[in-house]
Amino acid sequence: MQKQEKISLFKEVMGDYPTGVAIITTVGKDGKPVGLTVSSLSSVSINPLLISWCIDEGSSSLEAFEKANGFIVHILNGEQAELCKTFASKNADKFSNCDWEYSKSGLPIISDTLAVLECNTYKQVEAGDHTMLIGEVTDIHRTSDKDPMLYHRRKFGFIPSDFYKEGLGSK
Ligand SMILES: Cc1cc2nc3c(=O)[nH]c(=O)nc-3n(C[C@H](O)[C@H](O)[C@H](O)COP(=O)(O)O)c2cc1C
Repeated sequence: MQKQEKISLFKEVMGDYPTGVAIITTVGKDGKPVGLTVSSLSSVSINPLLISWCIDEGSSSLEAFEKANGFIVHILNGEQAELCKTFASKNADKFSNCDWEYSKSGLPIISDTLAVLECNTYKQVEAGDHTMLIGEVTDIHRTSDKDPMLYHRRKFGFIPSDFYKEGLGSK
């Protein structure tokens, strides 16, 4: 298989793997908030509580995350498509388009997402054209009981209404 063909198939196959959507925030060296939309969030360990996510080497937020001691993970609900798009935009004034405040540790927390995980940076791993950031979860806030946002084949939105019906593959 040619390299380009393999890359296309990789994107197609990995795009078939559904995920949720999160916004990760921290502060830059000037103290200003930075953040981006990600789908690479993953649970890593229970003891200690660790999560991971990956940031593209082309992200303008990379330096801030590399230098910060911590970050905030916000898990989005299905109604937050606009927030998802805002934080996936380049050169956007992301934080003037949402309600947010600084946490006790000085990191930006966006209001009204599904859940918030406050993390200390545990490890950074260079991995190809991305850096994997592993965070140790120091605090958790469940802020809503809405359904999460679903991301699949480059589309994001609600979980289908019949997903939770009996007999559709649930345990
Ligand atoms: C649903 C979705 C998931 C994304 N997942 C990631 C991701 O896991 N890692 C990443 O670096 N970029 C991801 N992106 C792209 C960034 O959000 C986008 O490149 C953003 O503009 C980066 O902003 P920045 O350059 O200001 O940091 C995703 C975008 C969308 C819409």
